[in-house]
Amino acid sequence: MAEELLDLRGIPRTQAYDELRGHVAAALAGVSDQTAAMATISSLVHHSLGFLWTGFYRVVAPRKLLVGPYQGSLGCLEIEFGRGVCGTAAETGRTVIVDDVLRHENHITCDPRARSEIVVPVFDAAGELIAVFDVDSDELGNFSEVDKAGLENIVAWFAGAHASTGDYAARDH
Ligand code: SME
Repeated sequence: MAEELLDLRGIPRTQAYDELRGHVAAALAGVSDQTAAMATISSLVHHSLGFLWTGFYRVVAPRKLLVGPYQGSLGCLEIEFGRGVCGTAAETGRTVIVDDVLRHENHITCDPRARSEIVVPVFDAAGELIAVFDVDSDELGNFSEVDKAGLENIVAWFAGAHASTGDYAARDH
């Protein structure tokens, strides 16, 4: 697939997520592998909207997150439920938006340039929490309800019947 680099930074976020959704669906057509989907979604979201760090932390044990596919500088490896913004989203099963990470006590600093962030819980088809999707920005207050809706919609892919933890299983190859 030869695709141009997607740049959605200059358009309203609502419209950007509409376009992004189409690109994610196209890129994941026929894919059922969760890791491939996490890598693909991280890359598309990160580069099209110019974020600082974009990626997944996976639930690998009770109350424990381990870093998964991401784009950006080195992320911390393990996060316990309840710790940081990721651990809070995992604990509550709800999206968390932080406008200013420097004023947010329960925040884990991986990249000191981070100023705001959003973390979205990721559920599988059985409704089990399998990961959180963490997006960080170097701008203050860069996330709103529009991002919440847009990103929750994108990670709803993992709740689809096609998503599996198994090996690569694309339709057309
Ligand atoms: N921001 C996260 C930590 C992960 S890194 O930013 C990649 C948090 O406070 O949960």
